[in-house]
Parts: sequence; structure tokens; C-alpha cells
Amino acid sequence: MSGIGSSLGLSLVVLLLLGCSTSLTRGRRLSREPGDISFEYHRYPELRDALVSVWLQCPSISRIYTVGRSFEGRELLVIEISDNPGEHEPGEPEFKYVGNMHGNEAVGRELLIYLAQYLCNEYQRENETIVNLIHNTRIHIMPSLNPDGFEKAAQQPGEIKDWFVGRSNAQSIDLNRNFPDLDRIVYLNEREGGTNNHLMQNLKKSVDENTKLAPETVAVIHWIMDIPFVLSANLHGGDIVANYPYDKTRSGSAHEYSACPDDSIFKSLARAYSSLNPTMSDPDRKPCRKSDDDTSFIDGTTNGAAWYSVPGGMQDFNYLSSNCFEITVELGCDKFPQEEKLKSYWEENKDSLVNYLTQVHRGITGFVKDHHGFPIANATISVDGIDHDVTSAKDGDYWRLLTPGNYKITVSAPGYLAVVKKVAVPYSPAVKVDFDLESLTERKEEEKEEMMEWWKMMSQTLNF
Ligand SMILES: *[C@@H]1O[C@H](CO)[C@@H](O)[C@H](O)[C@H]1NC(C)=O
Ligand SMILES: *[C@@H]1O[C@H](CO)[C@@H](O)[C@H](O)[C@H]1NC(C)=O
Ligand SMILES: [Zn+2]
Repeated sequence: MSGIGSSLGLSLVVLLLLGCSTSLTRGRRLSREPGDISFEYHRYPELRDALVSVWLQCPSISRIYTVGRSFEGRELLVIEISDNPGEHEPGEPEFKYVGNMHGNEAVGRELLIYLAQYLCNEYQRENETIVNLIHNTRIHIMPSLNPDGFEKAAQQPGEIKDWFVGRSNAQSIDLNRNFPDLDRIVYLNEREGGTNNHLMQNLKKSVDENTKLAPETVAVIHWIMDIPFVLSANLHGGDIVANYPYDKTRSGSAHEYSACPDDSIFKSLARAYSSLNPTMSDPDRKPCRKSDDDTSFIDGTTNGAAWYSVPGGMQDFNYLSSNCFEITVELGCDKFPQEEKLKSYWEENKDSLVNYLTQVHRGITGFVKDHHGFPIANATISVDGIDHDVTSAKDGDYWRLLTPGNYKITVSAPGYLAVVKKVAVPYSPAVKVDFDLESLTERKEEEKEEMMEWWKMMSQTLNF
């Protein structure tokens, strides 16, 4: 991905700047001061301008890149916020927010634009929380995964938007049902024996050839699989709850609690979002619509499949194809509320958005190396009692999100002797634990040498 990012980088910036200067001449933009958060809807050119203006204000900690194009050719723009934009720093976890996957669910798109601006502003004001976060995390923010759908929804005249117009992409594909259905594979593997993670390992090539996948889906799949993301959230609207895996029921029924092996940390992550949003966490909140069944909601969170079964969603795809743990946040009953309400949405979600981001620094983290200090990529990190492994990244760095407790961790890699360690995990920050693996060939050499020594000694002793 970094390859794609950098080759497109320069021309993209030029393009964005051109877009910026033309729209700056439009009236309502002129009154804006750099750093102001504009609590209004951003159409596609305005979204670009808003990201460029964050980048111009905070060039040392931000970068704009694209992961691909929508069906109608709009860029799937990402603003990265990090102290070393454009680079994975060994040991530093990566985080992503994705908004507006359903084009008519507009609040997430706007909140993510505001969040980028907020992080830049607070960094400049030397807010310690934000400075630490940016120094220790690589944050990727994609305000819109479905820019075509958004334009369609936003074009409707009047303040009240249709409930469905713009939900799908321009090919009428619902992007959140369009991912390879990895739940099906993992449920089969649970019954018949088989792996529980990285299920795309042998299917990656087929993504580009699969004509049923929307270009937006293909682009985001590559993004998910190329960057060592640890945590993410997918922002939706139409209800108000933080939803965690699995999203699809095991039995095929319409609703059924379908715990994934990481149920415990996912509940905790979902709560990290919901607990700071006063409406989401309000136990007395009425359902969005009288007919809604909210019985699965607890403290503003729900298991996805307990609410309703979703096959082919992005959330479970993240968990089952990569090391990234993702939840899906429904931000409010209205999908496309009146513009005047955007400021209060921001105020209700600001602390949740920041708090959820800090969750990436939980559990266990460190490096897997060999005896000479060389990194071991793609080593398997297994937790006793949790049937879902994560793997180390290119530099041997790994991140394993966990709730507080005592764990037995096994790290293994083909050609190496596995190492087991016991670790006590607090709520946060993450405990640093490095693993040093001895290669089997070296072990054999050592054994041979030991044998030779022994033989020499014996022959001297026996004097023959
Ligand atoms: C710094 O940022 C945090 C996180 O958003 C926020 O809670 C806090 O109020 C900010 N501090 C100041 C002094 O504004
Ligand atoms: C990672 O390791 C697994 C199991 O050890 C292996 O099946 C897979 O091919 C490896 N992937 C890469 C990209 O090396
Ligand atoms: Zn949605």
C-alpha cells in the first residue's frame, strides 16, 4: 500500500490543491479561519478541501493519500495523522476510522472530517493527550468509503432525505454485504477443524478477479491487508449502538448471540465508545422507531448477530482476514440529519472517538526476533484460551489486544522453537513483551557442536 500511496502521492496533492484553490473562491468558504471546524455537510470537493486544509495547517503530522477510486471515479481519500506520516514505525500500532460506507449515512463522514481538524488543532495547542496519541499511533481516517452514494443522497432536494437513496454504491451494491463471507469459512472450520484467522491467505489473488466485488470493496480489502492495522471502527447511522463481532449468526437464524473468540475484549472496546456518548449509553433511551427490537442492546453495545445477522460485512472481514479488530458504530437514529444538528453530534461523539482511538494501546505488544536480533515477520502469537491468533508484522512487531488478566502467550514461527511466556495484563497501557526465538537449524548446529565436545572429552578420558 505504501507503494501505491507514494506513487500517487504527488499528483494527488497537486490535484487536491487545484481543487482547493478553485473552491476557495466560493463565497461561504471565505469566512473560514484555518483551524475552524465547519459544522456543515461537505460534498466531494469540499471534503477534499477540508482535508487539504488540515494538511496545510499540520503538514508535519499529516498526509493525504488515496486507496483507490469509487465506481464513478472519486478518490477514496484518507488523511493519515502521525508524527512520521507515510511510514510504519516499527512497534507503533496503526488505527483506522472509516465513515460513510452507506452513502446516505452521513454523520460519520462529517465527524471524521471534524476529528482530523480537531487532532490537528489540539496537537498545535500542545494538548498532552493528543500529542502523546499522535506520537505513538499511526492514525488513518477515511471519511467516505462510498463517495458516489453520498453525492446521490445529498443531491435530493430539501432537508428530509429518503431512508435508502444513496445507501449502495453507484452499481447498486451494498458495500457492507459485499465482502467475502469469511464467517461461513470460520464456522465451517470450527466444526471440521481448520484455522480461525487470516482466512484470505490463499484467496488474496482472487479479490482482483472477482467481478462481484465493487471497486470500493476491492480497494479497502487491499488496504486492510497491506497495512498492519490493529484496531478500527466503521461508522454508520440509522440507530445508536456500538456493534461488535460476529455479525453473522452461526445457525443461519435472523438473531442469535454469536460470540467470537475475542468476545471479552470486543465488549470492552465497544463500551469504550458507547460509555462516553451520553445518548448511546442511556439505559432509558427509547428505540429509534417504535417497532425496533433493541433487546440485544446492553450499555449502548450489542453483539452484531444478536441484533440482526449480516453476511459479507466489513467488520468480520477485518477480524478474520487480518490482525485488525473492528467494531461498527451506529451514530444516531437519523441517517442524514439537518445540518444544524451536526455540531451536537460532534459534541456527543468527540470524547468517544478519541477514547476509542486510545484503546489501540491495550493488551500486549512487542517484537519477535531471532537470536541475532533479526525480526521474524508473520510469527504466530497465540493466547491460551482464545482461539484466534494474530501474527507479527514486517519488523517483527506485534499487537495483541486483551482485557486485564493473566495470560499464557505462545509465539511460534516455522523453523523456530516456540517460546511461551506468562504475562499479567492491566487495563492499559499495553505491556511490552519481546520474544526471542531460536532457529531450529541453529539448535541442530549447537547440538552437533555439543556432541563433538562430548565426543572429544570422552575420547580424551578413555584415551583412545
Ligand atoms: C485534550 O484532549 C483531550 C482529548 O480529546 C480532551 O479530553 C481534553 O479536554 C483536552 N485538554 C484541553 C486542555 O483542552
Ligand atoms: C505466514 O505463516 C503461515 C503459517 O505459518 C503461512 O501459512 C503463510 O503462508 C505465511 N504468510 C506469508 C505471507 O508468509
Ligand atoms: Zn449502515
